[in-house]
Amino acid sequence: MVGSFFRVSSRALLLLSLHALMIRFMHEGYTYGAKGKIASYTVSLSSLLPSPSCSPSTTKASNQKSTLELIHKHGPCSQLVQDPHPLNHTKILLQDESRVRWIQFQSSNSSHVLKASAAAHLRAKSDITVGTGNYLVTIGLGTPKKDLTLIFDTGSPLTWTRCKPCVGSCYTQSDPIFNPSHSSPYDNISCTSTSCSHLGSIGISRCSGSTCLYSIQYGDNSSSVGFFATEKLTISPTEVIDNFEFGCSENNQGLFGRAAGLIGLSDDNISIVEQTADKYGKYFSYCLPSSTSSTGHPTFGKEGGAPSSVSFTPLSRVQQSSQFYGISIVGISVEGNLLSIPSMVFSNGGTIIDSEPVITRLPPTVYRALRTAFRKAMANYTRAPTVSLFDTCYDFSKESTVAIPSIMFSFAGGVDLDLDPSRIFYVVKALQVCLAFAANGADSDPVIYVNAQQKTFEAVYDVAGGKRGFGSNGCSRDA
Ligand SMILES: *[C@@H]1O[C@H](CO)[C@@H](O)[C@H](O)[C@H]1NC(C)=O
Ligand SMILES: *[C@@H]1O[C@H](CO)[C@@H](O)[C@H](O)[C@H]1NC(C)=O
Ligand SMILES: *[C@@H]1O[C@H](CO)[C@@H](O)[C@H](O)[C@H]1NC(C)=O
Ligand SMILES: *[C@@H]1O[C@H](CO)[C@@H](O)[C@H](O)[C@H]1NC(C)=O
Ligand SMILES: *[C@@H]1O[C@H](CO)[C@@H](O)[C@H](O)[C@H]1NC(C)=O
Ligand SMILES: *[C@@H]1O[C@H](CO)[C@@H](O)[C@H](O)[C@H]1NC(C)=O
Repeated sequence: MVGSFFRVSSRALLLLSLHALMIRFMHEGYTYGAKGKIASYTVSLSSLLPSPSCSPSTTKASNQKSTLELIHKHGPCSQLVQDPHPLNHTKILLQDESRVRWIQFQSSNSSHVLKASAAAHLRAKSDITVGTGNYLVTIGLGTPKKDLTLIFDTGSPLTWTRCKPCVGSCYTQSDPIFNPSHSSPYDNISCTSTSCSHLGSIGISRCSGSTCLYSIQYGDNSSSVGFFATEKLTISPTEVIDNFEFGCSENNQGLFGRAAGLIGLSDDNISIVEQTADKYGKYFSYCLPSSTSSTGHPTFGKEGGAPSSVSFTPLSRVQQSSQFYGISIVGISVEGNLLSIPSMVFSNGGTIIDSEPVITRLPPTVYRALRTAFRKAMANYTRAPTVSLFDTCYDFSKESTVAIPSIMFSFAGGVDLDLDPSRIFYVVKALQVCLAFAANGADSDPVIYVNAQQKTFEAVYDVAGGKRGFGSNGCSRDA
């Protein structure tokens, strides 16, 4: 299929621009550089354009009983898809920017989580869909159990779903709205409970009489307000969590797609990770699917064993924030050559690892060094106009194959990760393929390392053990 990328039919071109994020390159070959490191990949766009039908991944993890299926919001595995042209790059990159600004604001010393009072004065931004998530999981809530499709978010503390009645701003969701009065285990949490004070400690609780309320705001100014309550949570037929604390939302501002709410996996007292600490030992892993037409998973606990060949790097807290998971980048190599960057530049603002943003944000000093090395290696290709936050774009429309310089990230603990060639570029269209990194405003801003740069890897969070693992073959279809 060499060359198929560049002689695409008009139908394929349409797919190309609509499904840029899902494109998978076929590796046609590698070249090796100094010290036996991969220097470049020769790739063509394969016929593996995203399939219009869902093809679930087949992995070992999916046999585990504490595993859920993870799907992309805009792909054919999602029942939420309503728009045949869901991917608007301008919109996706704008959303990405607001998520990044929010993370940086939240992780700064000035504020942990926006205060409840601020959320009360929100205005919905109808032109921006939720910036809080592209991946979805389905869990069961209540007795009798109701299945709910929730946004998967490692950067949020609280799990919530919409509840009846809707008293404020309401939206259409694909699952029936959860009705607490039809579920026997449902209970309101009292204002004087420890759980309510945990919410208070991150600034998202309020009391109404003796009842604990929550109010949380996200990066795109969307918000959710409701009762803090307990319910029975069902992960799988054998995995049931009683008295799970969650938000029963009666008022939402902004658009959450057609999802029923959000599942929060950050390192916070109220996240599902902390709440299930006795059962799963604050250990979870997940795999993001290789394309929007495939599936991934989160798995709770290490029963069944960690995936094969996991490399671990220390997991840390970024500054004052307990909400985001942090790791340490120690170096970046292009074509197998380490960029000459003082290590201080990486440690300045810390590095946050997150499942959501699309584009990794680097300190300006690092980004400039990466860009210079990358442009040098790509010198023989025709440059294309810049677009959005990208300043290094190429026109591949006349090429049959492309040699992409390798980019390797090195993390503390001796973990070296070669980025998948398909993650080095953001494909706007064949005439505009851009280096998929961007610079922060200042070197002191936290680095945002995007987990999606390692799709199909198993991302292991051993929160109790204080380490973050990268395992191969988490959810590849051909594994
Ligand atoms: C894409 O999104 C931007 C920002 O929301 C909007 O201004 C633009 O009209 C959208 N383009 C299309 C083709 O829908
Ligand atoms: C945050 O606070 C700590 C200790 O109070 C201080 O050392 C650090 O420089 C502050 N960071 C920023 C970015 O202001
Ligand atoms: C929870 O609190 C709300 C508001 O006070 C009330 O309407 C509802 O009946 C309560 N639910 C239960 C199960 O106590
Ligand atoms: C959210 O609201 C704040 C304050 O009103 C505003 O400055 C900011 O631009 C808004 N962000 C988005 C993504 O709309
Ligand atoms: C959990 O709550 C306790 C008591 O409120 C607090 O000391 C602790 O730091 C919290 N832990 C996390 C991870 O938020
Ligand atoms: C660019 O092409 C020239 C001529 O074919 C070749 O000598 C040179 O090595 C190429 N440069 C790169 C960076 O590949």
